[in-house]
Amino acid sequence: MTLISHKIALDVMSIRRDFPILEVKMRNNKDLVYLDSAATSQKPNSVLQAEARFYEQVNSGVHRGAHYLAELATDQYETARAKVANFVGAKPEQLVITKNATESLNLLAYAFATQNSSLLLKPGDEILVTEMEHHANLVPWQQVAEKTGAKLRWIPITPAGELDLSNISELINKKTKVISFTHMSNVLGTITPVAQIASLAKSVGAKVFLDACQSVPHMSVDFATLNVDAIVFSAHKMLGPLGVGMLVATEELLDEMPPFLTGGSMIEMVSMDKSTFAKAPKKFEAGTPNAAGIVATAAAVDYLNKIGMNNIQAHEEHLTEYLLAGLAQMPGVQVFAPNLIERGSPVSFAVAGVHPHDVGQVLDDDGIAIRVGHHCAWPLMKKLNVTATSRVSTYLYNEQSEIDAFLTSLERVRSFFGVK
Ligand SMILES: Cc1ncc(COP(=O)(O)O)c(C=O)c1O
Repeated sequence: MTLISHKIALDVMSIRRDFPILEVKMRNNKDLVYLDSAATSQKPNSVLQAEARFYEQVNSGVHRGAHYLAELATDQYETARAKVANFVGAKPEQLVITKNATESLNLLAYAFATQNSSLLLKPGDEILVTEMEHHANLVPWQQVAEKTGAKLRWIPITPAGELDLSNISELINKKTKVISFTHMSNVLGTITPVAQIASLAKSVGAKVFLDACQSVPHMSVDFATLNVDAIVFSAHKMLGPLGVGMLVATEELLDEMPPFLTGGSMIEMVSMDKSTFAKAPKKFEAGTPNAAGIVATAAAVDYLNKIGMNNIQAHEEHLTEYLLAGLAQMPGVQVFAPNLIERGSPVSFAVAGVHPHDVGQVLDDDGIAIRVGHHCAWPLMKKLNVTATSRVSTYLYNEQSEIDAFLTSLERVRSFFGVK
C-alpha cells in the first residue's frame, strides 16, 4: 500500500513524553495506540499534577469560609474560570462551570420548559436541532417538546454527510425559538456552517446554542465572534479531567434563564418560605464545585495554548488526510462522509460483513483503541443505514506511525474475516 507522506507540524515525540498513559502496556504487552480522543482525551503530567497539587496544598470549599485555604481555593477557582473563559474568547462572568457538557445542555433546555421562565415555550413554538446530534443535544430538547407542546424539528443531512440547508428558510421561521446544533459531528467529523445558521436564527429572534464538545478541543473557537447565545463543551475531551463541563453564554441569556440546580452557593437571600438567587455564573453553580477539576482544566488550557490550537488543527488535518488515503485503498472498507468540505478528526467507517465490535476486538488485540458502537447518535446511525460504526479520532499526541499501525491491523481484520 502506498500512502502520501506528510510533514508533521508538531514535535509529537516530545508531546508524547508528557502523557504517562501512553507508556502503559496493553493486552498482549502491546504498545498503546490511542485513537479514541473524541470519546475522551488523555491527560498530560501538568494537568495530573495541577489536580494533585490542589488536593495536596489548597483543598478547601470555594466561596465558603474566610480561612486561608478557603481564600486560596476560591482564588484558584476564579483564576481558572477566567483562563478557560479567555481560551474561548469569553469573559469570566460568562462561564458557568458544570459537571459535563450534558449537564450544560440540560441547563439550557430546562430554561425553556420551566414555569415562570420568560423563555418557556408553548404549543406552536419550534425547536430546531440536526440529524447528526449527540444524544446529549437531542434528548433534552425532546423532553422540552414533550413538556411544553412545542414542536421538535431537525435539519436533515445530505448523503455526503453535510447539513442539508436546501430547506433552511422554511425550517428556520417565525415559530423557531431555539436552534441547538453541533459545531463538529462526533461521528462524521463534519464542521457545520455556524455563521449561516446563526444569522438566519437571529433574523427570526431565535436563541442559538452550539454543542462545541468536538470543536473546542481541536480548533480555535471564539465565542465573541460566533454570533451564538451559548456554547457548551467538556474538559475531559480537551486534555482536562473528568467531571468538569462548561457553559459559556451571553450575559443577557444568563440573566434570563432560571437556575437549574438549586441549594447552597447559588443564593442571595434565603428565608423559610422563599429564596432569591445570586447573579450568574454563581446562580447556576449550586453545591460544592469541582475546584480541583477546573484548576486542572486551566492547566489543560495552558498546555493547549503552549502548543497552539492552529498547530493542533493542522497536525490533525495531516493525520486525517493520511488516514482517509489509507482507508480509500482498502477493498471492503466504506468510509462514511469521506469528502466533507470542512472536517475535523473523527472518521467513521464500516468493514463489509464485519460487525464493528469484531473490528474493535481485533484492533484491541494489537493494542489499538478505537470507538465502536452508535456513538450516542442513534438517529444518525439510522440515516447511515447501520446500527453502529467504527470510529478513529486523533489528537495532538498521535503520530503518523500510529495510523500505519491501525491500517496494518485493519488489514488483519480484512484477512481474518475474508473481506474482499
Ligand atoms: C458532540 C458531543 N456532544 C455532547 C457530548 C457529551 O459530552 P459529555 O459526555 O462530556 O457530557 C459528546 C461526548 O461524546 C459529544 O461528542
